[in-house]
Amino acid sequence: MLESISVFISGIVEGRDPVLNEHHQRVAAGISEFAEHIGCTGEERQILRIGASIHDLGKLSINEHILNKPARLTATEMELVRQHPELGYQLLAPLNLDPRITGIVRYHHENFDGTGYPEKRKGDDIPFYARIMRLWDVYDAVTMDRPYHKGVSSSEALQILVDTSERYDPELLASFCDFIEGRFGGRVAFCQGGEAVCLHAPAL
Ligand SMILES: [Fe+2]
Repeated sequence: MLESISVFISGIVEGRDPVLNEHHQRVAAGISEFAEHIGCTGEERQILRIGASIHDLGKLSINEHILNKPARLTATEMELVRQHPELGYQLLAPLNLDPRITGIVRYHHENFDGTGYPEKRKGDDIPFYARIMRLWDVYDAVTMDRPYHKGVSSSEALQILVDTSERYDPELLASFCDFIEGRFGGRVAFCQGGEAVCLHAPAL
């Protein structure tokens, strides 16, 4: 049933915003691999994969011209975009999904140091799965081309994460760097089947 819900939601996202669905599918594939790397069970991997595959669902409730604006957002626009975790959580509420999945949706923009949103949660008050999602979300955001910036290399992405390390669970960040460096050694993309593909391998 969980898989069916995930596929159903992905179909809706694909119809409205294919780029967003690509982001969902990339991070879902990557997070599943990473979960294995850190010793998660098969069930935990499934929870992470499904949560990742729908985590930005709430963006469907936000004007696409704001989401794809090729310039810096105004304060008002930023405030609207920052509602997407809560909007996604509310959209999913009638389904009574596993709280680990809805926690990924609701808290994937919380920072370990309490500077994130929507609740400014700190440290272990942020659900474990959402802390993992945070890393993958940022990694994918900076490595992929967006309307407002060119994607950076894998090594540059890891440097960005390290430079802002206060925002992430330190143990997870160390595991993540180890995983990306050891497994791919370069910029990573995931084809639709979820298989990892290394686009190029710069020196890390
Ligand atoms: Fe998000």
